[in-house]
Amino acid sequence: MTEQPKRLWRNPASLLGLALAFIATAVGLPLMFADLLSAFNNPYAGILIYLTLPGVAAFGVALALAGMLWERRRRRLHPDEAPALLPIIDFNDARQRLTLAAYAGLAAVILVLLSVTGYRAYDYSDSVRFCGLVCHQVMKPEYEAYLHSPHARVACVACHVGPGAKWFVHAKLTGLYQVYATAFNKYPRPIPTPVRNLRPAEETCAQCHWPAKFFGAQQKSFVHYLTDEKNSPWRIQTLIKIGGGQSAGDAPVGIHAHMNIANEIYYAAADEKRQDIPYIKAVDRKGVATEYFSGESKLSPEQAAKLPLRRMDCVDCHTRPSHVFNTPEQAVSRALEAGLADASLPYLKREAMRLLAGEYKTEAEALAKISQELPEFYRKNYPAVYAKKEAAVRQAAAAVGELLRENVFPEMKADWRAHENNLGHLVSAGCFRCHDGEHKSRDGKVVTKDCGACHTIVAQGTPEQVAKARLQAQPFKHPVDVGVDVTQMRCDSCHNGTSGL
Ligand code: HEC
Ligand code: HEC
Ligand code: HEC
Ligand code: HEC
Ligand code: HEC
Ligand code: HEC
Repeated sequence: MTEQPKRLWRNPASLLGLALAFIATAVGLPLMFADLLSAFNNPYAGILIYLTLPGVAAFGVALALAGMLWERRRRRLHPDEAPALLPIIDFNDARQRLTLAAYAGLAAVILVLLSVTGYRAYDYSDSVRFCGLVCHQVMKPEYEAYLHSPHARVACVACHVGPGAKWFVHAKLTGLYQVYATAFNKYPRPIPTPVRNLRPAEETCAQCHWPAKFFGAQQKSFVHYLTDEKNSPWRIQTLIKIGGGQSAGDAPVGIHAHMNIANEIYYAAADEKRQDIPYIKAVDRKGVATEYFSGESKLSPEQAAKLPLRRMDCVDCHTRPSHVFNTPEQAVSRALEAGLADASLPYLKREAMRLLAGEYKTEAEALAKISQELPEFYRKNYPAVYAKKEAAVRQAAAAVGELLRENVFPEMKADWRAHENNLGHLVSAGCFRCHDGEHKSRDGKVVTKDCGACHTIVAQGTPEQVAKARLQAQPFKHPVDVGVDVTQMRCDSCHNGTSGL
């Protein structure tokens, strides 16, 4: 019998590779079963179990194979050292049969493991845990706001990636850059919006929503408290015309019809944030185009028409479907309405808004300031109230701290100031980016600013007035007299999220 040549894997590189693969598998397998079987919810464990350890094992196997190839080449070049022979497999030899069966078994086990880890890695890298928690500091604002949104049960990837291989690959490639940016602290604060490479909304939102089927109007109540000593409540009840594209008559009615379905609307923006819109092109169902130019733009019509066009879709209005950073005005009004803080404390609305809108470097600094300054305000200015209602004051401070935690993120500079909500027109230009009465076509058509075009106000005033009102269409009444006709102005020229404090 000829002497068996030394096995190819007996070289330093292959041995090291095999050792690595063995250790990674030995550590990873028990962890993986623990993770699969328990409700064990640590976001970092997934990185180790499904990304790092399989990566190390795969690297080990690759190293072992490379070592073997290299060894074979070396033997070919120096045939006298060790004759390069292909193994002779003899099924009559019981030992060889056994070895072969063992190899086949091992290969099958590895295949199963690879498919489980591969599937889990895919699943894990698409999970809300991974998107929201792993880069904790970076994603904290979006994740926190998401948890309080109507979409808290919708996975991040349903909106940010969507189905299909192309967008999956696209997302994983940009993801690699994001991992690098996070690891080396190279990410922008805040993360800029609009998200340039967001997938077209028809392919994400439309998986679940079908605005063509919306019709009629939706009732919506807006609740406010004013900045006076009594924190006077003020309510506005509206019917918002959310109608869709399949209305009976020829003329489409309502917000979703005009914007998206029947008509195509293209626009050009003069700024990064798409807030300044000098040019609009609307194409109706028959294909007739109307161009509108803004009378307020610094650009001439010719310059404006040359800017790159964007087709308007869901996220041009719904900029914050999931990451809702409430303004201090909204946050405090809602907390007072919900009874989270005692609305009988004088000037609570004003003081709470002022604290939420402060300039802070960290969340800890902000929370410390709130829990110190709010009680201080009452101790100094309303000692009698403070003596009687100290507990309520402390509770109000805790509630304001909670509002800050949910809506303002100093470390990432993310809040209502950084991320405009385009759905409306009170605090940012929103609909009035185009519907400001200044966008006109050459033949005199105007993109409407008529207060009744998008909604009907059916009741407004103090809670008592609203309770007694017979619901009927009425002109808007501004809650305080500011000496000008506000309907002739852009609301966001005064309203900045803190009632203009
Ligand atoms: C309902 C759909 C939806 C879901 C679910 C969703 N997002 Fe978003 N996300 C958006 C939209 C729309 C934007 C803003 C797009 C724009 O203005 O260009 C956005 C913006 C962002 C931004 C950019 C910064 C910002 O605040 O605008 C980040 C980061 C982000 N999302 C992360 C996440 C993470 C992490 C999750 C899961 C925890 C998630 N998103 C879930 C729709 C969604
Ligand atoms: C995976 C399904 C899914 C996707 C994708 C999705 N949504 Fe939703 N959306 C929902 C569900 C479910 C609700 C209702 C939540 C509830 O009422 O509790 C909802 C509610 C809403 C609402 C009503 C919110 C409110 O305040 O009542 C809006 C607006 C909305 N979605 C817009 C969007 C937009 C814009 C996108 C794309 C960026 C999107 N959705 C993507 C499932 C989805
Ligand atoms: C000239 C400045 C100015 C303009 C323009 C203006 N407002 Fe106001 N608005 C105020 C002031 C001041 C208050 C009182 C704030 C307080 O005391 O709480 C207020 C209060 C409100 C409130 C009560 C909630 C809050 O934020 O305090 C609503 C709602 C409101 N305005 C709606 C509008 C709408 C809608 C428009 C645009 C059509 C508009 N305002 C334009 C100055 C303005
Ligand atoms: C022109 C701006 C605009 C566009 C474009 C737009 N929407 Fe809306 N949408 C609105 C407004 C305004 C409302 C009323 C909601 C409110 O005021 O809270 C609304 C309401 C909704 C609601 C809640 C309806 C309900 O019955 O509760 C959903 C869901 C929704 N939109 C989904 C979408 C989707 C999906 C798209 C893209 C196909 C889209 N919208 C495009 C402005 C728009
Ligand atoms: C990019 C510009 C742009 C923005 C932003 C925009 N619109 Fe429009 N909207 C238009 C144009 C242009 C028309 C007229 C369409 C035409 O000529 O057929 C229109 C028409 C409408 C109409 C029909 C009005 C009528 O009675 O004829 C409604 C309702 C409407 N928009 C609601 C909204 C709402 C609500 C928002 C904000 C959430 C909004 N739009 C934001 C450009 C815009
Ligand atoms: C192009 C459509 C459009 C036009 C024109 C329009 N609005 Fe609105 N308005 C909206 C939408 C959409 C909302 C709902 C925003 C939301 O759901 O947060 C809204 C909300 C409001 C609110 C409630 C805001 C709050 O937070 O309490 C008031 C008040 C209001 N509009 C007054 C007016 C007045 C006054 C005019 C005329 C100068 C006007 N609107 C013209 C689309 C429009």
